[in-house]
Amino acid sequence: MDRKILFYMLENRLYYKTFCVYFMTTGIIVTNTTLARDGLRSNQKSEAGGLSGSPLRVRSEAVLRQVVKGVEGRIPIVSVGGIMNPDDAKRRLEMGATLIQLYTGLVYEGPGLVKKILLDQ
Ligand SMILES: Cc1cc2nc3c(=O)[nH]c(=O)nc-3n(C[C@H](O)[C@H](O)[C@H](O)COP(=O)(O)O)c2cc1C
Repeated sequence: MDRKILFYMLENRLYYKTFCVYFMTTGIIVTNTTLARDGLRSNQKSEAGGLSGSPLRVRSEAVLRQVVKGVEGRIPIVSVGGIMNPDDAKRRLEMGATLIQLYTGLVYEGPGLVKKILLDQ
């Protein structure tokens, strides 16, 4: 069973290790989109729905840091959220992600982003 970490879990200080054991999770995906709009200056910031891409980068890394610490290497971690270029990808792997997932980065950069990331490793 895979579980995807929601930002509100970080904000509610969920204890990730307990979460993983309790749900017999075999892998964990951090993170999803967010409903938060803090620090956003776009005219579209009041649009409904989940926010993705660059504005997620810092928050997604903060959650990843906690999850890496919590699961102590016992299950794979997929990092997603604001990975827009090879540097972002490299940093997530260095932080302890097992895999990365691209979504908004692919929308903006196209499949060539995958090649750039692979060549950069
Ligand atoms: C249009 C759109 C649709 C999405 N649909 C799903 C979905 O069905 N299930 C899911 O778990 N995440 C979904 N996501 C979240 C993405 O998988 C990803 O976690 C999120 O966009 C953050 O990554 P990014 O900043 O690279 O886009 C969706 C995101 C977008 C933008």
